[in-house]
Amino acid sequence: MTSDVTRPRKLRAVAIVGSLRTDSYNQLLLDNVIRLSPDELDIYQFPRFAEIPLFNEDQARLGPPEAVAELQAAVRAADAIVIATPEYNYGVPGVLKNALDWISMPPGNSGLEGKPIALMGASPSILGTARAQSQLRQSFVATDSHVVNSPEVFVTRAHTRFEDGVLTDSGSTKLIGRLLDNLVQLIRTVEPADVRLTEQVAAR
Ligand SMILES: Cc1cc2nc3c(=O)[nH]c(=O)nc-3n(C[C@H](O)[C@H](O)[C@H](O)COP(=O)(O)O)c2cc1C
Repeated sequence: MTSDVTRPRKLRAVAIVGSLRTDSYNQLLLDNVIRLSPDELDIYQFPRFAEIPLFNEDQARLGPPEAVAELQAAVRAADAIVIATPEYNYGVPGVLKNALDWISMPPGNSGLEGKPIALMGASPSILGTARAQSQLRQSFVATDSHVVNSPEVFVTRAHTRFEDGVLTDSGSTKLIGRLLDNLVQLIRTVEPADVRLTEQVAAR
């Protein structure tokens, strides 16, 4: 039995890490982000990222491979996307850009349109993926997505920031908390405050 009372439903974000490296700092970063996520937000990582093939527009139009279709569906179903990215050669890692190109299909009607996105990244350098994140923001203009503007989360000198997998840098931890709060706020702003954002509360 349910009552007429509604409350904000739990939000769901799909997460992508732009690194396939076994000991990836960005994977560690995401693990910490999941741990730090607020009660109203569930973040889960897309499990088949390593299976995404190279983008092929012919294949995209004929029907994407299974792992890609799963990723596209996960993004469509999610309220938001959380991305933790490395930086390679001052830019976005190929594996991440490749996956985003798949998700951006079909242009003008993809799961990225109007989607709230939170970006972050970790790197051993002192810029902490600033250039890669800047490039990602530019691509998300093309897909008409809504990237949280601030705070920006650059985990610099990443090799010094984790102990037994735990992010020990309190500055980054605070920024992540604010980024996730702002993501939740953006989701609630972008999505209309109708039944999509509420659930009926079971009567006791
Ligand atoms: C080919 C290559 C290019 C790189 N270029 C950059 C770069 O431009 N900026 C940077 O901060 N780090 C750069 N790095 C270092 C990466 O940030 C580092 O390998 C990082 O640990 C990768 O992310 P991950 O730990 O999540 O796998 C580069 C590494 C490689 C292998």
